[in-house]
Amino acid sequence: MKPVKVGLLGLGTVGGGTVNVLRRNAEEITRRAGRGIQVTHASARDLKKARICSTEGIRLTAQPLEVVNDPEVKIVVELIGGTELARDLVNRAIANGKHVVTANKALIARYGNEIFNAARKQGVMVAFEAAVAGGIPIIKAIREGLAGNRIEWLAGIINGTGNFILTAMRDEGRDFADVLAEAQRLGYAEADPTFDVEGIDAAHKLTILAAIAFGIPLQFDKVYTEGITRITRADVGYAEQLGYRIKHLAIARRAAAGIELRVHPTLIPERRLIANVDGVMNAVVVMGDAVGPTLYYGAGAGAEPTASAVVADLVDVVRVLTSDPENRVPHLAFQPDALSDLPILPMDQVETAYYLRLQAADRPGVLADVTRILADQDISIESILQKEPLAGESEVPIILLTHRTLEKNMNQAISRIEVLSSISAKVMRIRLEQLSR
Ligand code: HSE
Repeated sequence: MKPVKVGLLGLGTVGGGTVNVLRRNAEEITRRAGRGIQVTHASARDLKKARICSTEGIRLTAQPLEVVNDPEVKIVVELIGGTELARDLVNRAIANGKHVVTANKALIARYGNEIFNAARKQGVMVAFEAAVAGGIPIIKAIREGLAGNRIEWLAGIINGTGNFILTAMRDEGRDFADVLAEAQRLGYAEADPTFDVEGIDAAHKLTILAAIAFGIPLQFDKVYTEGITRITRADVGYAEQLGYRIKHLAIARRAAAGIELRVHPTLIPERRLIANVDGVMNAVVVMGDAVGPTLYYGAGAGAEPTASAVVADLVDVVRVLTSDPENRVPHLAFQPDALSDLPILPMDQVETAYYLRLQAADRPGVLADVTRILADQDISIESILQKEPLAGESEVPIILLTHRTLEKNMNQAISRIEVLSSISAKVMRIRLEQLSR
C-alpha cells in the first residue's frame, strides 16, 4: 500500500524532531501502522532558518493554508502553537476532511469542544497525545489503559520549567528569578514564561486530563490557577525540615459535590515517588478505584520526546483510517453524548491541608491567639515549627501544618490572623496534599 501523506504546520523543535523520528524509525513505524508515513508538505514561518532535520523530499511553503488545502495530504500535524491561527488552520483542515494531530495544549484546552464537534461531523480524527506531558503517553493511558476504572483523582507535575525552577531553588539554594533566566536560556520555557510560572500552561494540560479522566467537557476557564512566583527559598527549606517537598501540582479530584480543578504550589511528603521528580521531568499520578495509584514519568518537552507522542498519534490515525468513525476511541474517552455535567467546584469549596508561615512577634500569647482562631474555624493543627529570631530581629517565623479543611474556612482564618497586632506580614499559605488513597 502507498504511504500516507502528511502535512506539517511548523518545522521548529517539535516539527524537526517529528521528521527525524519518522525517518529514522521508518521501518518499525511502517510495520506498526501497516503503511508508511511520509511528510510531503510542510510550512515554516522562516524558510531560510537552519533546521534540526533535513527537508529533502518535503515541499516547503511559508503559507500554512497551502498545506491544509493540499489534496494529497491526508493528515495535518499542527505544531505552530498559539491559539487563533492554529484554530483557523485546524478547523480548515477538518472542513477539508483531513485528520489532525496536534501538540497544542492551549488550542485543545480552549477550543477542543468546538474542534471535536466539527471533527465528529466530518468523520475525522483529532489526536493530541503530545499536548500533555510531552513524551509520556498519559492520554492513551487514561483514555484506554484505565478505561475499566472510576478515576478518583490525578495529580501531575506537568510543566517542566516550573519544576526545573523549584528543583534548583531547593538543591542549589538559588533564587526564583535567577533560575527562571537559566530556564529561558536553555529553551524550556514557553515563548511567554508567565505561562509556565503562573501555571497557565499546566492549567491547559490539566483541563485536558480532567476531561478524559472524568468524562466532562473541556472547561479551562474554571481551573483555579496559582503560580510559583511567591515561593521563597525559606519556604522550600522549612518544607524540607518538615519532611515535604514543594511542587507545582496540577490536581483534578472527584469530590462529593463536583470536580476540583486546581494548579498551585503544593507540599507533598518527600517519600512519595512524585516528590522526587526533579528538573524538567514531568510525572502524573492517577488514582483509579480498581488499579489504585499508577505513576507515569518521563520527558515533558523537547524535540524527540514530543515527537514520540506526535508519531504515536500518526500511527494511531493511520491504523484506523478506514475504520467506521463510530468505532473509534472517542476524543474525550467517553462517548460524546455521555459526557457528565458535574460542576467544577469554586476554590472556596475545595478541601485540602495547608502549610502556613507567619511572621510573628516573639512574645507570650501570640501562638495562643493564632491557634484559637484556627480552632474557631474548625481547623485542626498537625504540627508547628517555630524558628529562632534572626540576629538583631524581634520577630520569628512560625510554620504551621494543618489537617484538611475547606478553603473557605482557611480564608476566614487567615483574614483574622493577618489583623492581629502581633503578626507583621501577610500569611504565606501553601496547600498540602498527602497524595495517599
Ligand atoms: N513550557 C512547557 C514546559 C513545554 O516547561 O513544560 C512543554 O509543554
